[in-house]
Amino acid sequence: MIRTVPTKPFDGQKPGTSGLRKKVPVFQQPGYVENFVQSIFDVLEGSAGQTLVLGGDGRFFNREVVQIVLKMAAAAGFGRVLVGQGGLLSTPAVSAVIRKRKAFGGIVLSASHNPGGPEGDFGIKYNIGNGGPAPEKITDAIFARTKTIAEYRILEAPDVDIDVIGTVALGDLTVEVIDPVADYAELMQSLFDFDAIRALFRSGFHMRFDAMSAITGPYAHRILEQTLGAAPGSVVHGTPLPDFGGHHPDPNLVYAKDLYDLMMGPDAPDFGAASDGDGDRNLIIGRGIFVTPSDSLALLAANAHLAPGYAKGIAGIARSMPTSRAADRVAAAKGIGIYETPTGWKFFGNLLDAGMATICGEESAGTGSNHVREKDGLWAVLLWLNILAQRRQSVADIVAEHWRTYGRNYYSRHDYEEVATEKANAVVDRIRAALPSLPGRSFGALKVEAADDFAYHDPVDGSDSAHQGLRVLFEGGSRIIYRLSGTGTAGATLRIYIERFEPDPARHGQETQAALADLIVLARQLGDVPGNTGMAEPSVVT
Ligand code: G6P
Ligand code: ZN
Repeated sequence: MIRTVPTKPFDGQKPGTSGLRKKVPVFQQPGYVENFVQSIFDVLEGSAGQTLVLGGDGRFFNREVVQIVLKMAAAAGFGRVLVGQGGLLSTPAVSAVIRKRKAFGGIVLSASHNPGGPEGDFGIKYNIGNGGPAPEKITDAIFARTKTIAEYRILEAPDVDIDVIGTVALGDLTVEVIDPVADYAELMQSLFDFDAIRALFRSGFHMRFDAMSAITGPYAHRILEQTLGAAPGSVVHGTPLPDFGGHHPDPNLVYAKDLYDLMMGPDAPDFGAASDGDGDRNLIIGRGIFVTPSDSLALLAANAHLAPGYAKGIAGIARSMPTSRAADRVAAAKGIGIYETPTGWKFFGNLLDAGMATICGEESAGTGSNHVREKDGLWAVLLWLNILAQRRQSVADIVAEHWRTYGRNYYSRHDYEEVATEKANAVVDRIRAALPSLPGRSFGALKVEAADDFAYHDPVDGSDSAHQGLRVLFEGGSRIIYRLSGTGTAGATLRIYIERFEPDPARHGQETQAALADLIVLARQLGDVPGNTGMAEPSVVT
């Protein structure tokens, strides 16, 4: 019944920031999925008889890969696979299920916020028993294995019916098709004051949640509308589609423009939010005000005690290095730890496991806590709702009050997408070469205090990660950061992160790009960005 199939390595099966991501046609090459999945299974020790969690965001090719993984898990000797009905599970739900059911690990099928469909992207990611993405030690071993793999093993069997909840045998493997929402919804209910949020909706509070035709639709319908009483229709684009309706399921101001326009217009509801392809990112917009992910992290950390799950206070906050330093001010005021990690949620895992950080966040629209080991889009929405239910102020008022208390960190990210790799490298090389000469230099009113190539020393396991982004730090708290994206699938994406701290409440009402104007000009000059990339303007500004 178990077939051993000879195979040859494929180039480039290197897991990036968040698993292996490639165009669908790359994954469709015969043996491509099998090689990678076998490489994962080959490096796992002690998985025999254990439980694996499996699900994806429903994008094109999801169902086919679910069947392959099931049959290969059977051949690899797993005891049980918990698969979401229809092959669906959001990324945070995979994490929640792994933890609740004490699984050995999980496989997430997603390319997150990247477009789907036959010409879109696909991805495979392995999560470990704490529910979080595999650490580099494991992903490096998987990559090494992909380079030497000579055969894979797969059970010869008909496809499993993944649309019916229940348990079936696949060879010696037990396949349990689970409700993708139930465990996750139960976890949310244990963290948040659902009665208070219900009362908020009953009082006439309106929201719109845009699921972007991706995985959070079923979760949002069940939790926001059916359980918490948000008006029917509050959730839009709530049915997961293989091509996300042709849209880019990235909840930012560019791809969630409809939501943004609604929230800025005369008919804005009280609260707007969106999540990405696999449900781990979030976008928060109040009536007339976009809350940057960095500010949202700081606000959630400052107010988390208003939710029952965090009523005892939080132990610490962790943020990725390019994320603004707004959260640092909250941590300082509360006298709790603040940790600065490289980009990538996996770096938070150790801090969460060790109880050093409770809430984590990234500028890339990810926020989460120790309840799972992934960032969690709906969690952020529910924590916001819990806070709004307790404070009964508008989002705009809560944000303004936060800035008055802690100061405002003006913040923007400028992306140069699909740049030829050499051109993007030219910018980074130029800055890297200049780093030693920058401290002490002045550019107009901006004086460089320090400049470095960010390296992280993990305080828990002692590991080191070098070259995680170039930082130019100015006196007074401004920063320019250059970094190449680790998640793109075409060419390189250069990201420039720009931040300015403004303590004076009288100056908190500026337009962000205007407030950052001198830094923006300098950022382009220092890297000769137009000259090196041939692009006069970034392709995306968030
Ligand atoms: C994924 C990861 C995040 C990370 C983001 C950065 O979403 O899960 O943890 O912040 O990628 O992407 P980038 O394209 O900047 O490498
Ligand atoms: Zn995602």
